[in-house]
Amino acid sequence: MGTWPAEAIWEAVAPLLPGFTVDVLPEIDSTNTELMRRARAGQTDPVLLVAERQSAGRGRLGRQWASAPGDSLTFSLGLTLAPADWSGLSLAVGVAVAESLHPAVQLKWPNDLWLQGRKLGGILVETASFSGAQGPAGRYAVVGVGLNLAPRAAEGLSTPPAWLRELQPAAQAGEVLLAVAPPLVQALQGFAALGFAPFQARFAARDALRDAAVVLSDGTAGTAHGVTATGALLVHTPAGMQVVASSEVSVRPAPAGR
Ligand code: BTN
Repeated sequence: MGTWPAEAIWEAVAPLLPGFTVDVLPEIDSTNTELMRRARAGQTDPVLLVAERQSAGRGRLGRQWASAPGDSLTFSLGLTLAPADWSGLSLAVGVAVAESLHPAVQLKWPNDLWLQGRKLGGILVETASFSGAQGPAGRYAVVGVGLNLAPRAAEGLSTPPAWLRELQPAAQAGEVLLAVAPPLVQALQGFAALGFAPFQARFAARDALRDAAVVLSDGTAGTAHGVTATGALLVHTPAGMQVVASSEVSVRPAPAGR
């Protein structure tokens, strides 16, 4: 196994999250799948699960997430959350990850990490409900992040790839994880307390679609106008302003010339 600064990550995060552990595995099907399995089996302690290799990495909308060991960072953070309103959670995660990487990293609604119009990474947020034996019932959130570190082939990808070493030539998975994990935990706790509103301006500062011509998955064309205080995307269309709240809707920049 490569070297992972598991202890440094633990030291930074444990004071915020009692009971927190860091778990590094050489291989697993998917870190998200594994944490969802554990949650369903009653294991809902806060954990950062890192995989050097995923054999069945998953993306949003049922897509696959392929990655090569050493050339990517793949991890999931699992923790209990109880926000008053869950809307915008995945955008808040995107904000925290983008801010901890580099000023040039942008966000493509709802939560893809973009660099110069290409995809640097993706985020997959899932939740499992549980009824605590002792404590109150709650929801366990599994926040999965996949980041390209090194060049990868564009074949089979709907968006051409970008990689972190374009910005940080010496970037290593462990160091990147140490930079990302503590701010991510802080953002999740901030979101649980105050919702998406405090993240709205931070998202806007990195919004890759701002004022861009876009097409929704139902074919509607329009112009993106930023996100609301609950994380919905505003799209100006010929039929008026459309509020796109569901992350099950995909949005693509319109092909040039539209
Ligand atoms: C997307 O862009 O559609 C989201 C990709 C999310 C990939 C990460 S890699 C770690 C975690 N485990 C998974 O199976 N998926 C997420």
